[in-house]
Amino acid sequence: MMRAFYGIALGSLLLLTGSIVASAQGGSAQPNGFTNLQVWPVDTPRAVVLNFMNAFNRSLGVECNYCHVQRDGKFDFASDEKREKRVARKMILFRDSINVELAAIVDKPVTAGPTSVEARPGAPTRVLCASCHHGLPIPAPLGEVTSEAEKSGGAIAGLAKFKELRAKFYGGQQYDFTEYALVGIATTALNAKRPDDALRYLQANLEYFPKSSMTYQAMAQAKNAKGDKGAAIKDLETAVQLDPQNAQAKNQLQQLKGQ
Ligand code: HEC
Ligand code: HEC
Repeated sequence: MMRAFYGIALGSLLLLTGSIVASAQGGSAQPNGFTNLQVWPVDTPRAVVLNFMNAFNRSLGVECNYCHVQRDGKFDFASDEKREKRVARKMILFRDSINVELAAIVDKPVTAGPTSVEARPGAPTRVLCASCHHGLPIPAPLGEVTSEAEKSGGAIAGLAKFKELRAKFYGGQQYDFTEYALVGIATTALNAKRPDDALRYLQANLEYFPKSSMTYQAMAQAKNAKGDKGAAIKDLETAVQLDPQNAQAKNQLQQLKGQ
């Protein structure tokens, strides 16, 4: 276990500025100064644990106090008071069990090669916290977050949520802000028979991607769903003009014109 463990200790060391308060609930202190390691071996070197802690911060996009209690400005790292720390402990075991199962599924030996992940030829790619969390404590897909917002304020609230997240996270690993994102959200609205909501999302997408063929194509579907065949044909023509390779748009255009 320790081999894989050292292997994924990434990044730079955190210099602890505050003093670590010993916790009443902890066991006897180890040379590493820690008193409450339950998942990792109790004698795990300090630098290794702190490397992991830095990686947790980056993977989830949080600070140490997301999991650790702070009293009067001082951290009590050994305390298990916070739910997030207790969840994180189970997440470590969850991740490790995934990796064991994964190795069996792809039929590759977990322990192949030397200790660092980069240099273990034949070993399976490891699933890390970041593989799922990609910079968020609760890694919900963008479409789920906007549909949650829709529950209280419809597509206006959904779009406001999208813009808020885009302003905050654009360029980061947290959410997909590519051309397809709002088209996907609009398609969900259209499938739920809400073509006006779909059009609102698609119109907004044109602000970000004015030459998006797939956006015009989706707008055509929404307009056709509203019974406006003429407008749908116009949008499909624009879609084909913007991307002559868009075979789907071409087909739909032919079909609509033929009707
Ligand atoms: C996502 C939650 C999470 C974040 C964020 C996090 N930790 Fe931890 N930390 C844990 C868990 C879980 C353990 C216990 C691991 C175990 O039981 O083996 C732990 C243990 C520790 C310990 C050992 C405490 C002891 O005496 O047993 C220290 C020190 C520590 N963390 C420091 C930090 C620092 C510094 C940061 C910020 C850079 C940080 N942690 C960020 C979850 C977190
Ligand atoms: C297989 C995917 C996956 C892996 C790997 C994973 N997590 Fe999670 N984790 C999730 C999901 C999904 C949630 C959100 C569940 C929910 O909606 O409440 C979550 C929730 C959490 C939470 C609770 C967040 C909160 O505020 O409720 C913590 C803390 C956490 N994970 C830490 C970690 C750490 C640390 C690691 C690496 C040791 C890790 N996770 C690995 C998928 C994963």
